[in-house]
Amino acid sequence: MNQWTPGEPLFHVVDPRQFDRPRLEGLVALTEAARAMARTREGALALQQRLAHRRAMLYFTQPSTRTFLSFNNPCHVLGMVTSEIRDPSTSSEVKGETIEDSIRTFSAYVDVIIMRTWAEGLASRMARLMDTWPRPVPIVNAGSGRDLHPTQGLLDIYTLHLSFAKQGGIDGKVIGFMGDLRRGRTVRSLCYLLANYREVSLGFIAPEPFTLGDDIKAYLTEHGVPFWETDDLHQALPQLDAIYVTRLQSEHDAPGEASVIDYQRFSIGLAEMARLKPNGVVMHPLPRGAELATAVDSDPRATYWRLERNGMWLRVALLLTILGEAQGFDGVPPLA
Ligand code: NCD
Repeated sequence: MNQWTPGEPLFHVVDPRQFDRPRLEGLVALTEAARAMARTREGALALQQRLAHRRAMLYFTQPSTRTFLSFNNPCHVLGMVTSEIRDPSTSSEVKGETIEDSIRTFSAYVDVIIMRTWAEGLASRMARLMDTWPRPVPIVNAGSGRDLHPTQGLLDIYTLHLSFAKQGGIDGKVIGFMGDLRRGRTVRSLCYLLANYREVSLGFIAPEPFTLGDDIKAYLTEHGVPFWETDDLHQALPQLDAIYVTRLQSEHDAPGEASVIDYQRFSIGLAEMARLKPNGVVMHPLPRGAELATAVDSDPRATYWRLERNGMWLRVALLLTILGEAQGFDGVPPLA
């Protein structure tokens, strides 16, 4: 049986709650080591040998630009051959095949299944299915409906780790989240992961219908993470060490739901940047909408374009880990 709990070898990656602090720190160290290794031609070619004997399936039936590319490219960095389905109308789903049977089929051909779908909880269900299977392959959740996007949360942690490297790390920081917090799976995932850090406090800045879900608030309370909620960005900004900006998740709108909101009050432009600390950090999982002005891009506090590249290397480390090839990187402790 494959283990889900921290302390056991990591296999599936479906839920951010699988990650405790040692796991997060091990993953960040491995990301840095693999990234450093790729800087030389010899290192890059050695990385390409690491998983040249393995294959990956990318099953992405929900739209994706960067998450798809930032899994596809790590596979290639590690020498893996990839197969993909992006349009379910080209698969046996149209013949009525169940998702269970499709996943069993993929598992016959490949060594890892990376999936993004509209359905909440589906990746976890498929991971449990694999645990009952004679040839189980790891399932990686690349976004499951409105609920979770654990690998985005991991790359956000890596980005925060880099951003706060000279300011004592993530511990003790005040991190704000702004936008559609109710339906944003990246926000939910990062909140779960931040509960691993000491004395962080979180601020949630959202319009009334899109405030953070009660389930995450209960989790934070249970884990002793202080948080506050407001709809006043102007007043919140100077208190923050980092702000995680998100777009309105309008693809999930019930008719008329979002049109009543003045989203302008939940946007970052140059005037808002003037209220953020001089060494504050601006994050966004992208794609962006009107909530983040392009004028902010050239501000050194804007991390979101670097964040994309961080995500590629983080996923290199994740694939090495779950496929059992994380050993032998200089100075990297073995991963639990
Ligand atoms: C996010 C997603 O798909 O949840 N994008 C991403 O993976 N970087 C955020 C979003 O779509 O708003």
